[in-house]
Amino acid sequence: MEKLLKTLGPVCAIIGAQWGDEGKGKAIDMLAEHYDVIARAAGGANAGHTIVVKGKKHVFHLLPSGALHPNTTVIVGSGMVLHLPTVLEEIRTLEEAGIDVLPRLFISEEAHILFEFHKDIDAAMEELRAARSGKGIGTTRRGIGPAYMDKAARRGIRMGSLKDDLTKELEARVEQVKHAYGVTVDVALEQKHLAEARKVLAGRVTNTVALLHRLLKEGKTILIEGAQATLLDIDHGTYPYVTSSSTTVAGALQGLGLPPRRLTSCIGVAKAYCTRVGEGEFLTEVTGETGDRLRERGGEYGATTGRPRRCGWLHLPDLRFSADINGYTQWNITKLDVLDEEETIPVGVGVNADGSVKFENLPGWKASTQGVTSFGKLPKNAQGYLTFIEKQTGVPVALTGTGQGREAMIVRE
Ligand code: IMP
Repeated sequence: MEKLLKTLGPVCAIIGAQWGDEGKGKAIDMLAEHYDVIARAAGGANAGHTIVVKGKKHVFHLLPSGALHPNTTVIVGSGMVLHLPTVLEEIRTLEEAGIDVLPRLFISEEAHILFEFHKDIDAAMEELRAARSGKGIGTTRRGIGPAYMDKAARRGIRMGSLKDDLTKELEARVEQVKHAYGVTVDVALEQKHLAEARKVLAGRVTNTVALLHRLLKEGKTILIEGAQATLLDIDHGTYPYVTSSSTTVAGALQGLGLPPRRLTSCIGVAKAYCTRVGEGEFLTEVTGETGDRLRERGGEYGATTGRPRRCGWLHLPDLRFSADINGYTQWNITKLDVLDEEETIPVGVGVNADGSVKFENLPGWKASTQGVTSFGKLPKNAQGYLTFIEKQTGVPVALTGTGQGREAMIVRE
């Protein structure tokens, strides 16, 4: 681990390589205790980072999951959209677990507030799309798109205004929102949420960009916690079936106000297979018995919405694309053990002349890799599977997940 930490250097980002739910939380959790600052940069409560500690599941939607470590400084960055009741609930849940996050939490004054009416607009827009074309985007209905719409339209309300009386701003939205989406803004409810949040959070809202640069000058180390994933990026993802934020490492740096040259490493996180929630292309998707088996073995149900995830095989062109965009220095391949029972494991390696996916069938290992913590103890075919990914992508696999718990991880230095 010491050697790996040295390789990663003082500013490391962890970025999802596929369509989210890669299991970023575990690498973050493992590394967080070695970093001074844990920062989330973009997105909102559409994310769901699940971490299992001593058999207890913790799900984070807004706060960085690295917040579980008591000595970290926790930053909620400028690129985020914040549903305030969710922030309060996560703080409370952590407090109940004996983790006091508030005194070390710093929320960007530039982050946008995501209101209840954003969620209602999200739902209304999904229903409209479904009525028009038979299907929506399959959003998480957490109001992400509408909150970023307001941000881009330059009428969003930012955390820096939390201390102010926002009655006028909210009332100004009532008619426009009704007219455009048929959605009623419940001003009293929004006010209630604002008042509750003001009491707890007002003192935690600050200029996080200045803070981060001050911490860097003091020699502090930073772990950047990516949310969602590269193929869901608003620019580079499978548009329009994407989220509304920049999910790449460049987006994370932008969301935090950090210059690219500060970054010392970027870990790409990919499942040993692949999943997706919501609509959109998924070239290596498998349905039927095999898809169901992957879903059950991998527990592939959304951490945020509980939706069953679509399952399929690894698609190396996606991983190469993702590695190009983010400049991964290492892979974290997660949930290798989910493939333990497969006879053969098809992997998408390119395209056939007819445009269909070209698969290469790798031999399975038909043995348990659950809880294995050293590469040498993996069955030969499992080793071969990881080596194949390395060769095909040109990025070394530094971390491999072999089970749910904190300990079930192979670290290769
Ligand atoms: P939205 O971000 O709620 O607008 O949803 C847009 C698309 O991104 C949908 O297909 C969602 O299922 C997907 N999505 C958003 N956040 C996550 C995530 O954290 N994991 C997996 N999929 C996500």
